[in-house]
Amino acid sequence: MTEKAFYVTTPIYYVNDVPHIGHAYTTVAGDVLTRWHRQRGERVWFLTGTDEHGEKILTAAAEHGMTPRQWTDHMVNTAWLPALQTIDVANDDFIRTTEARHEERVRDFWLALREKGEVYSGTYTGPYCVACEEFKQPSEIVDGNCPIHGRPVKEISEENYFFPLSKYADALLAHYEASPAFVEPESARNEVVSFVRGGLQDISMSRSSFDWGIKVPWDDKHVIYVWIDALQNYLNATGWPEPGWEERWPADVHLVGKDILRFHAVIWPAMLMAAGLPLPRKVFANGWLLVGGEKMSKTKLTGIAPSVITDVFGSDAYRYYFMRAIPFGQDGSFSWEDMHARYKSELSDQLGNLASRLLAMVERYRDGLLPPVASEPALESALATAAAEADERFCALDFQGGIGAVMGFVRAVNNYVTENEPWQLAKDPARSGDLDRVLYATAESLRAVAVLFNAVMPKACAALWSALGAEGDLAAQRVADVARWGQLPAGTKVAKGDGLFPRVETE
Ligand code: MSP
Repeated sequence: MTEKAFYVTTPIYYVNDVPHIGHAYTTVAGDVLTRWHRQRGERVWFLTGTDEHGEKILTAAAEHGMTPRQWTDHMVNTAWLPALQTIDVANDDFIRTTEARHEERVRDFWLALREKGEVYSGTYTGPYCVACEEFKQPSEIVDGNCPIHGRPVKEISEENYFFPLSKYADALLAHYEASPAFVEPESARNEVVSFVRGGLQDISMSRSSFDWGIKVPWDDKHVIYVWIDALQNYLNATGWPEPGWEERWPADVHLVGKDILRFHAVIWPAMLMAAGLPLPRKVFANGWLLVGGEKMSKTKLTGIAPSVITDVFGSDAYRYYFMRAIPFGQDGSFSWEDMHARYKSELSDQLGNLASRLLAMVERYRDGLLPPVASEPALESALATAAAEADERFCALDFQGGIGAVMGFVRAVNNYVTENEPWQLAKDPARSGDLDRVLYATAESLRAVAVLFNAVMPKACAALWSALGAEGDLAAQRVADVARWGQLPAGTKVAKGDGLFPRVETE
């Protein structure tokens, strides 16, 4: 059997509306994580996709005078797939819950659970938030509104099929105990554990008041509840139960927003336990992008389209900013001022400037040809430390820390150039050897930076890689080899090229 892939998923997004930067946030994180793991030499599988059933989508389609099928096709093709290009995401698969490969497996799964006695019929009565597509506890409701969307919940009373979630409480608690890394960060884990300790209620696994969904296989007056349908996408995308599915499953990381943590860390593992299938290895909950202290949302008309930002700063700076500015797992806000300040001080003034200084000096003093390989122990050891630190942080989903480690090295190289004053060395023919050494060491450092920042900023790093005249495919460069000094051969032709991070007008 082929070695199991490192399998990462994003939530599948509702296509009732277009994507905003809150959605793109998790997808960028998944892309950075998987690009990093690819550069560790691992086989990787990165899945994203769309959640297309349920009341919310049905209503959106009707409001636009389309059938749900027309609407979901339209939204996927015009908004959700293009958004992946906008933020430069290299997913391996894209699953839609309206695809046969998903719908058929959902039916099989529930037929099997019903045969095992894991389904019973009953009546659900209580509040429901259509924007969350979630049955709510009466205690969660604030003045008749959903606490997340600030919109009225509706009281529903329906004949439904139920999944006996409550009987899995002990097994779930035992699992959280035995596998502390199953839910991260710590705050998310604590929330989940105390929620389950508080006692679980059985949940509806079907809806009967509308028909946009996967029909319950033994009763076509019901459709499978959209969340129950959606969660299974992660398993179905592996091809389960066809041969080969275990080359992906279990997922190594389910990346989710904190609002959908319970679905992933409570309901989903219980469904898998009921089916006798292996559990995912980790559910990591990220925070929200806030606007005015509240979750950015289309419902509240606060959503910003990713392209509004990438049009100004480009996809690399976009990816860099969100991974760098907000500790992964905590809430954060986007501001144009902060974005511009970081773009200027970190990307332009540090990284961009370092690259353009080096390329210009090699051009000017050495006709664009790299001097002989030369050792520079202080930089070599700073690089080894930065690479090890970045690896540890990125693997722990501490994107801010990983970027910080690489940026720390960029600053060290900038200081090295400033202290060694190659422009002074160039004036003194007796110090030509010193100039060679400084130019080579700086170029070699930048080679390593291109490798270490490739997961975050693939386009800029590809440009830097080619400007340095480096050989081979950048994405194939291994993290484990990055600190091996002397990889750029003497005489390599560098090219000045355009600046990596051109000036952006503050307007
Ligand atoms: N369809 C479900 C997920 C099913 S996964 C089996 C869903 N879709 S969603 O489109 O509403 O949200 C998808 C993800 O986007 C969630 O993780 C949610 O947390 C995230 N975000 C939506 N708005 C957000 C912010 N303002 N900030 C950060 N993430 C946010 O839920």
